[in-house]
Amino acid sequence: MEVYGKALALAAGLLLSVAFAPAAVSSFDWKLPEGVAPPPVPIDNPMSQAKVELGRKLFYDADLSIDGTMSCATCHEQRRGFTDSNRTHPGVHGDPGKRNVQTLANAGYFRALTWGDPGVKTLEAQALIPIAGTRPVEMGFAGQEAVLAARLAGQACYRRMFGEAFPEVGGEVSMVTIAKALAAFQRTLVSFDSPYDRRRRGEAVAVSAEAERGERLFKAGCASCHAGPLFTDADKARFHRIDAPFAGDQGLGDVTGEAADAGRFRTPSLRNAALSAPYLHDGSAPTLETAIRRHRVAMRLGDRQVAELVEFLGTLTDETFVTDPRFSLPKPGCGP
Ligand code: HEC
Ligand code: HEC
Repeated sequence: MEVYGKALALAAGLLLSVAFAPAAVSSFDWKLPEGVAPPPVPIDNPMSQAKVELGRKLFYDADLSIDGTMSCATCHEQRRGFTDSNRTHPGVHGDPGKRNVQTLANAGYFRALTWGDPGVKTLEAQALIPIAGTRPVEMGFAGQEAVLAARLAGQACYRRMFGEAFPEVGGEVSMVTIAKALAAFQRTLVSFDSPYDRRRRGEAVAVSAEAERGERLFKAGCASCHAGPLFTDADKARFHRIDAPFAGDQGLGDVTGEAADAGRFRTPSLRNAALSAPYLHDGSAPTLETAIRRHRVAMRLGDRQVAELVEFLGTLTDETFVTDPRFSLPKPGCGP
């Protein structure tokens, strides 16, 4: 499966840098909860407030689709943890797509992005796929990237904001600077303030006995893949098959061509999962219960265990994150 069309290969090549700067280098104010380290930042795309504000404006702007009908936020809605409620979300030309919209919470920490492609390593590289990808067509700019740059450069507001965000290239509006700004904004989408996190920080947060039993089950049977505080091993770029092999989308197998990879997908994070139905790479599981039952795991998963696991997953819902005004639709006009 090729990720980029020919016209995009150049911009993508410029964005494949995976050299990350130590967090200490940046003076950016992440406003993170206590004890949370910021995500790694590529050396060639340092964080700045101006860049994050530009990325936020771009994220919410339907001018990023060829016919002006669709922004990133059309599919990635904050109140649903930056997912939507559809199995798949058709692109501007009606291409239905085959995959469920992923959450963007903590995606800055992941080393493999999308459901099944180890080649998409940075948010910069990923951003070009919805804008100008062809499989599926989402925002529809394949081969017409210059139209997008001209459209944005034609607006005084964007000229000013690109100037402030990218002084080193004279405020150039290009696929490269668009992708870098979107990536900088997305790195700020950090979710570590759920009841689960607040309890771990020692705050007195009540959770049900059922959720506590669910947490123990989770640690025993689920945390090998939905690992650590990210609730995924995406930061290690791991892929797994949870079910019997099936026809259709083969995930990693479609990229590598290896039979052993057929049906392997990157582990989704379970943060804010209660808000992001439906589930699995194809959106085929309408509820958390169904998604959990689709796993072949060693532990016994009777109705009671599944209910306890679902109750535990509910403690990963981060109300601060899904209502944070820093991540919402910006006011019209330029900048903060
Ligand atoms: C038409 C719906 C749609 C639009 C519009 C859209 N996305 Fe997505 N997004 C998806 C789907 C579906 C996936 C999963 C893709 C896959 O696995 O092939 C995804 C995956 C992602 C991921 C990977 C997350 C992870 O955990 O690996 C990021 C990051 C992302 N999108 C950012 C964006 C940005 C930035 C924009 C705007 C430029 C955008 N998306 C526009 C549907 C959309
Ligand atoms: C072997 C690794 C592995 C283990 C163990 C595992 N999962 Fe998963 N989980 C995955 C992968 C990979 C997916 C995505 C599969 C797909 O889309 O086809 C997934 C998907 C999910 C989803 C759907 C999330 C979404 O956003 O679509 C939920 C919920 C889930 N797992 C919960 C659990 C629970 C609860 C357990 C323990 C009973 C568990 N998982 C054990 C790897 C694992």
